[in-house]
Amino acid sequence: MTQRTTWPGFVLLVIQPEAFYRKDPILAYARKTDGWTEVARQTVVWTPERARALLSPEPAETTTPAPDDEVHNEQHVAALCEGRSEIVVLRRATPPVEMVFLSNEEATPLEQTSATDWKRWLELCGPVDPAEARALAPRSLRALFGVDKAHCGVWTSRDVTQITSDLAKCFHDATEVERIYERVRVVGEQVAGGGSAAKSYLSSTVLETLTTALSRLCMAQPAQPLEWLGAYLQEAASLQGHARLPPRLVFVLGGPGAGKGTQCARLVAEFGFWHVSAGDLLRAEIQTQSEQGQLIDEMIRQGAIVPGHITLELLRKKLVDAGSTLAVPGVLIDGFPRALDQAIDFECLLRRADFCLFFECSEAEMERRLLQRSRSSGRTDDNPESIRKRFRTFIETTMPVIEFLERRMRVHRIPAERSVDEVYAQVRQLFL
Ligand code: ADP
Ligand code: C5P
Ligand code: MG
Repeated sequence: MTQRTTWPGFVLLVIQPEAFYRKDPILAYARKTDGWTEVARQTVVWTPERARALLSPEPAETTTPAPDDEVHNEQHVAALCEGRSEIVVLRRATPPVEMVFLSNEEATPLEQTSATDWKRWLELCGPVDPAEARALAPRSLRALFGVDKAHCGVWTSRDVTQITSDLAKCFHDATEVERIYERVRVVGEQVAGGGSAAKSYLSSTVLETLTTALSRLCMAQPAQPLEWLGAYLQEAASLQGHARLPPRLVFVLGGPGAGKGTQCARLVAEFGFWHVSAGDLLRAEIQTQSEQGQLIDEMIRQGAIVPGHITLELLRKKLVDAGSTLAVPGVLIDGFPRALDQAIDFECLLRRADFCLFFECSEAEMERRLLQRSRSSGRTDDNPESIRKRFRTFIETTMPVIEFLERRMRVHRIPAERSVDEVYAQVRQLFL
């Protein structure tokens, strides 16, 4: 049987508190993977009542919920209330039309496109349980950004027929809801009109970015709209544009004292690469005496990993600088990614690195080198206590990154206990 329902032309995404600080990578990923573009967004802190209203099934749907479902629902409510969430309305460049389920033969091409949009959206979100998502749909949002069933990273409407009522539960202000519909409609018309060659060129290139830019412009209503738009587009281009990144990106990893910085210096001298050390960027940030700098200072002393979004933002700026300098053949990204979230977010926000060097060295040798370095480095973490903590962080948090990267790119394991020259003789072969 064919079932018809109105495709509202958009989807709703709630980036839950556990993934809130990763909202930029999540949205960049949705845009890159499938062209989902934001139409509106709002930061909220859910109250239990509002969260319950969003997560509970509509009365019409309810039979008697299974006790397990109720327990899970309450856990999910609690998870939603743990901090800030980002509500985002997203659309792909297809106009709102009646949507057809089950029988595709009767559907017009436009209807089929919209049904495909919803199917693709569900695929992008993945199964609700992140563990299941990691097994069945490893590239889905829940697989990449979810933690457990309640902290599943992102929430979205369970059914296409619920999107409209969910929107009202997310945006209480009726005027804002009206504005969202208007924006969705305008984008739909833009796409529906115009010659098909022009349409397909625009939708495959700049349409999503321009649409987002114009919606943001209307929200911000700055005094100098053109200037604002120019700055926004430049920023968006640097965030998205692969062309603006340097041609080669190489991760350089290894335990503390394994010789990453030393080998990078050699590569810079011979091949003219840029060397960007995440540790150096963080140490420079401490010098700015900002509040963020104080946090970084403490974490480095403790041998802990600084929250990934801080490091990634510092790194992103450097890479964009490198990308706009034409002579740079590539960048050696030293000491990053040190944790799984850093690896995933880097790829979502920028692009996959080309390969990874991994220097393998025993703890005894690394400790010997670090204690020797401490005589001249002036580093607050080159002392026996911090070194012990850094080793532990390396084993527990960074080693899983190596396994993750090995499934995504070539990881060259380099024995690093030998002399600097011997190690370099092997390293340079990879760049010839
Ligand atoms: P990382 O950046 O991996 O923490 P560094 O490159 O700063 O490590 O090296 C740590 C210390 O060990 C430095 O003092 C460096 O001169 C020394 N060193 C680096 N590579 C070697 C090596 N192959 N043999 C002996 N000492 C080394
Ligand atoms: O790489 P380096 O040894 O210079 O890093 C020093 C410290 O900086 C690490 O021990 C860690 O506290 C912090 N760091 C981080 N995240 C990174 C790189 C470094 O938190 N990606
Ligand atoms: Mg170093």
